[in-house]
Amino acid sequence: MLALARGEVDANGLLPIFAARSPEVAEKCNIMADVQDLFKKIIAHSKEYGFVYPSSEIYEGLGGVYDYGPLGVELKNNIKTYWWKAMVQLHENIVGIDAAIFMHPTTWKASGHVDAFNDPLIDNKTSKKRYRADVLIEDYIKKLEEKIEKQVKKGRKRFGEAFDEEKFRATDGRAVQYAEKIADIEGRLHTAMRDNDLVALRDLIVELEIADPVSGSRDWTEVRQFNLMFSTQLGNIAGEAGKLYLRPETAQGIFVNFLNVLNTTRQRLPFGIAQIGKAFRNEIIARQFIFRMREFEQMEMQFFVKPGTEMEWYNAWKEKRMQWHRALGVPAEKLRFKDHEALAHYANAAVDIEFEFPFGFKELEGIHSRTDYDLRRHEEYSGKKLRYFDPETREHFVPYIIETSIGADRMFLALLSAAYREEEVPDAKGGTATRVVLKLPPALAPVKCAVLPLLKNKPELVDRAKEVFETLKYEFACQYDEKDAIGRRYRRQDAIGTPFCVTIDFVSLEDDTVTIRDRDSLEQVRVKTADVAAFIREKVDWAPLLRAVGASPL
Ligand code: GAP
Repeated sequence: MLALARGEVDANGLLPIFAARSPEVAEKCNIMADVQDLFKKIIAHSKEYGFVYPSSEIYEGLGGVYDYGPLGVELKNNIKTYWWKAMVQLHENIVGIDAAIFMHPTTWKASGHVDAFNDPLIDNKTSKKRYRADVLIEDYIKKLEEKIEKQVKKGRKRFGEAFDEEKFRATDGRAVQYAEKIADIEGRLHTAMRDNDLVALRDLIVELEIADPVSGSRDWTEVRQFNLMFSTQLGNIAGEAGKLYLRPETAQGIFVNFLNVLNTTRQRLPFGIAQIGKAFRNEIIARQFIFRMREFEQMEMQFFVKPGTEMEWYNAWKEKRMQWHRALGVPAEKLRFKDHEALAHYANAAVDIEFEFPFGFKELEGIHSRTDYDLRRHEEYSGKKLRYFDPETREHFVPYIIETSIGADRMFLALLSAAYREEEVPDAKGGTATRVVLKLPPALAPVKCAVLPLLKNKPELVDRAKEVFETLKYEFACQYDEKDAIGRRYRRQDAIGTPFCVTIDFVSLEDDTVTIRDRDSLEQVRVKTADVAAFIREKVDWAPLLRAVGASPL
């Protein structure tokens, strides 16, 4: 076999490390490698073009914390604008607030976060590494699942065409043995988690002989509950009384302002309160780039409804939120609903909208029917009545709540993952070249248009291009670029997702026109300079996007 360079594929399109295996295995392995490769590329691309940087990188970074660069902040702001417009601007009965991050500490007792927002942790005494006990066990289960898949592959190879996978899984001695073991472990894990039985969790880890992935040691501490809230201290009060938390969700800021909003607006049930803001969680396993962070941003809406009508609203919001995602042009097969199997004690229905990230389908957004739990708990702890007076029935009651909650950062990652492409395109010499392009929806793209003089050393082109740039910049996020050959400048704009490149060439000087290049089709049209703004305005307008989401009859 010919030696191939790293990353290079052989004549069958296979990476060398997999090429010697069976075509089926090789194909699957290649897909997995591609997927990991894609995720790495997205992370590298984010950094290279100034979307996302590791936080305080000059000090080796801080785990689970990221900074948004010049293009990242634009894209994130556009995501937030899209959410805000679709939720608040389109609905007369949804209003926004911006509550403080710090809240009275009793808030978190009432919400249940002080007592129950915990992860069970275990330390390895040799490596001094800390792990989530349940995740160690889940990882063990994953290994058993992989063993089953290996058995299935062997079976497929052995029986060829006649292979009946379902029958094999049900009858092969080893596969059945592994499956039974998984069922047993899952059952015990579920019971231990439900009963908060930390001893049972540790016993399971010891019994399964789970070793520290770093040191290989099995020298484990006890399992302890670890609260995920970050705390800090109020300046003028010492001790417990002055202990404050950084909010782990924005929702509580809405619940505690329910009465304020009710009394200061003319809203009547059903109505919603929306908020975008930072949340903080001391995640033990902060991984997968900006998917799971310690500091992140949430976009949450709490919709207050009459008790008994909540399922109707829950279903309406499920559809509405899915529509918001679909309107962006994300392929339908990349989005799906996943009902929660175990409901939180305060919920009577809950579903996730999952997106197919490069590492698989994962939660992007949660929609929860939270009953009257939150308002009742705040009534109990504050001693204030958080009731709604229905003028028709003349009844006072605690409204039920439907919550929609999405992470702005997770949405950012979903958008980037859906937009990132490597494509073969014609090059200037009549051949082809590979371009990296972000096919972002134009309304959300960080830069809407780039203005490019064809040549840098022709002052008449440069002057005209600067004039065009000066007129456009008041309306759109634009870039002026004169460095390098025009082809390279197009590639740079493709790589950051700029939907339009406006080029000033020699014809422009004669007839006062420019060319506009479309990022996706690569087509170039010539338009009058005076018409450029209208051309771009129509394409990057929020209105068509918002019409595709549609205002619901709320
Ligand atoms: N108020 C409900 C709530 O906070 P959640 O499922 O814990 O529910 C809602 O979070 C959304 O917030 C998630 O669907 C996800 O998009 C985002 N999110 C949660 N934890 C996150 C983290 N550590 N990093 C980034 N985003 C996160």
